Amino acid sequence: MSTEQTFCMIKPGILQRRQVGEILSRLERKGLRIVACKMMRMDAELCRRHYAHLQERSFFPALEEYMTSGPMLALVLEGYNAVAALRALCGPTESETAPPGTIRGDYALLTRKNIIHSSDSPDTAREEIERFFQPEELFAYEDQNEYWFW
Ligand code: TYD
Repeated sequence: MSTEQTFCMIKPGILQRRQVGEILSRLERKGLRIVACKMMRMDAELCRRHYAHLQERSFFPALEEYMTSGPMLALVLEGYNAVAALRALCGPTESETAPPGTIRGDYALLTRKNIIHSSDSPDTAREEIERFFQPEELFAYEDQNEYWFW
């Protein structure tokens, strides 16, 4: 394990619910460092590319409708073992089985509206970061806090 970057989306519903701050606090509290952040609206084309592996699934139209329904927050987070750390914070995909204490377990009843995305592997993280960000949108900086977190 090493210091990694991972990609995260705070999905449209959480902006509508005015809970962006709460979710960012949970990510920061874990020790993850924000190295890129932008508010954007997914269009259908980007949604189809990002969720290409799901295009044949029956729920895809509903997923696309949700993901393009309003702005979301795209983030790059950095930290020791960041990909797995963020996946663990988010919890399982299915809202029905996501345990309390995980973000998905605490903030969603419906899988389709599970409010947060996280990359599922370091390779996927690299692809997703490139999909959503230009290199100059990522900030390399030292915050002197690594000692306390990793
Ligand atoms: P997926 O890439 O399988 O999982 P994850 O987001 O955990 O990496 O699914 C992408 C999104 O698609 C998921 O966050 C919510 C939605 N989805 C459904 O609406 N129904 C489903 O049965 C699944 C598997 C996913």
